[in-house]
Amino acid sequence: MAVPCSLSAKFKGSFAYFTVKDRLPQILTRVIDTVHRNKSKFLEEYGEEGMEAEKKAIAAFSKLRNELQTDKAVLLLTDPLPDTELWNQYLEYQQTLLSAEEQPSWFTSPWLYVECYMYRRIHEGIVLSPPICSFDVFKEGKDESFFQSQQAISALCTFFQELAKEIKDRSEEQVKEAFFKLLQVSLWGNKCDLSISSGEDNSQKCSPLNSLAALQPCILVDDSECLWSILSHSRKTSNCKESVTRIDVVLDNAGFELVTDLVLADFLLTSKLATEIHFHGKCIPWFVSDTTKSDFRWTIQQLRAANHRWMSKCGNNWDGNLKKQVWVYHDHLFWTLPYEFCEMAQVAPDLYTELQKSDLVLFKGDLNYRKLTGDRKWDFTVPFSQALNRFHPAPLCSIRTLKADIQVGLKSGQGEQLTSSEPTWMTSGKYGVIQFSALA
Ligand code: F6P
Ligand code: MG
Repeated sequence: MAVPCSLSAKFKGSFAYFTVKDRLPQILTRVIDTVHRNKSKFLEEYGEEGMEAEKKAIAAFSKLRNELQTDKAVLLLTDPLPDTELWNQYLEYQQTLLSAEEQPSWFTSPWLYVECYMYRRIHEGIVLSPPICSFDVFKEGKDESFFQSQQAISALCTFFQELAKEIKDRSEEQVKEAFFKLLQVSLWGNKCDLSISSGEDNSQKCSPLNSLAALQPCILVDDSECLWSILSHSRKTSNCKESVTRIDVVLDNAGFELVTDLVLADFLLTSKLATEIHFHGKCIPWFVSDTTKSDFRWTIQQLRAANHRWMSKCGNNWDGNLKKQVWVYHDHLFWTLPYEFCEMAQVAPDLYTELQKSDLVLFKGDLNYRKLTGDRKWDFTVPFSQALNRFHPAPLCSIRTLKADIQVGLKSGQGEQLTSSEPTWMTSGKYGVIQFSALA
């Protein structure tokens, strides 16, 4: 079994140095600034208590930033949330991996763990600062990124609605071509994540459809044909009224990426490649731009209210899909725990059972890829199904742009060649994969 990526190991590389020394503290600095800028809003809503809460939250985040920058010990959580116990047990487990004199600290613990832990501590800082405990410190950035992508969103909605009008008359080959296009739009939508840019604008400015052909060589593993064969098979057998084809989408970022996922989901229903779509989002604000229930609702509401015919048509249809329950939104606290997905069956058996009902699970984004593969230093040629380490609730596919230095399932020599020609290929977000696994 490959070893987990730890911060100390990563410190030796320039990317990790940048991540730890700059990116995470930068994110905390932005969080502090956001809370501070909302001071008058808190005053208006809660009076003096709101002012006190602002001070308390800022003090918690400043302390957290100091702990992180000076490699202090990882501390137990102290809030009363339902996952606190699980987080604290996880810390105790990390302790068992060290000698009695050592304590898990920010630089020496596995990167996946401490990065998740930082976001959970941010949430703790807010939860322990009543009455502002439901304030989403990342909301402004997520909304801004949605508004910055208006042109791309309107182009995508227009493309989709024109396609949807004629879908019944399209040949099998044309439906397949459209599916591949929308899958790729959803893949490249994953470039728009705000944690990689420390919260700076990273939105999609122009139509995503025009650049698909040029981006094709950047897809390092493209298993789109495998997805098509599963879905087209169900489409052919779907004449029977009772038959259900369920696709689950484990969402990643709000903003443009979420719109690309919703368009793909709409296409799957409209083209009868699926009959039900189940979305999985985060219970708490996470990795700056990840989708929460409130972001999901907000996005659909924004589209409904848009002053653009095709955008509002999309928004109204999506709202209708939720009402008809052909789209179902789920959240589960497992998605914001530090566990690798191979531990899901044990830690969250209810979620594992839910995913087992699916015909295909699509995992969006880089963090999901890290959790699927255990964030380990795998050789590039290790098969994806092996790196999943027996996590296999259903056939699954990762749709991800590369932002962390993990990649499996490449052809022999492919990774080495990229490393010598483009040293940052694993972390720049330029490359992507549509990587499928049918087997345990
Ligand atoms: O690159 C920084 C980072 O926080 C990674 O650790 C993480 O995998 C990624 O950003 C999040 O990306 P995504 O939104 O695609 O999951
Ligand atoms: Mg994300």
